[in-house]
Amino acid sequence: MNIFAHRGSSGFYPENTMIAFEKAIDDGVHGVELDVQLTKDGQMVVIHDETITRTTNGAGYVKDFTLHELKQYDAGGWFPYPSMQRIPTLDEVLRLLQPTSLQVNIELKNDVIPYAGLEEKVVSIIQEYNMESRIILSSFVPQSIQKVSQLAPFVERALLCMENQQDPIEQLHKYNANALHCHYRLISPSLLERAKALHIPIRVFTVNDKDNWLRMMELGVDAIFTDYPLEKKRGKASG
Ligand code: G3P
Ligand code: CA
Repeated sequence: MNIFAHRGSSGFYPENTMIAFEKAIDDGVHGVELDVQLTKDGQMVVIHDETITRTTNGAGYVKDFTLHELKQYDAGGWFPYPSMQRIPTLDEVLRLLQPTSLQVNIELKNDVIPYAGLEEKVVSIIQEYNMESRIILSSFVPQSIQKVSQLAPFVERALLCMENQQDPIEQLHKYNANALHCHYRLISPSLLERAKALHIPIRVFTVNDKDNWLRMMELGVDAIFTDYPLEKKRGKASG
């Protein structure tokens, strides 16, 4: 079972910042997950929420700031173990990860704000970095996955599914995805059996406690996303 650092090693470092991704590399993960949104001037930035309020010392929507304006804020001071960080661009994060062999799951964070042109921009930068074979693009918006399938048919595409998703495999076929990234409560032996028969990778989010981690291993999921990758690697999951 592969381990993906969810928003970097975000249990001990501020999520979606360079230090969280650097630590994920040190933690020996198989892959890294991150979230991408667009600024007012169309730049790709790595941040989970649609606003900067929770994870920086500023407030307001990402889409209402230029990149230059966003870079003024501290994205690390809010965290229990603070360090001065800036909101990274996708370019900065790919520059860090390109020389590694890690898989990179870029979540198109467009389920609340439908950023025009996000898919094209992300596909273009992963081609620039020649990272197509190591990237997994995911989204909660199935139409966005379908669009990526037309723009970049050789890039892996994962449909994100919450626990109440009806028939995720049917959805995957309908929108031309080739993997499922599922909430752990959606996982059942029958879903895994069907997925395995069809060679569909199943990766599960966000697994931070020991019981769920062991259950996912026993069930045979392909990967988990966790905020605590080092603990999972050492078999010391908390909880
Ligand atoms: O990609 C899995 C997971 O990151 C989706 O949920 O809210 O943490 O982005 P969220
Ligand atoms: Ca995410």
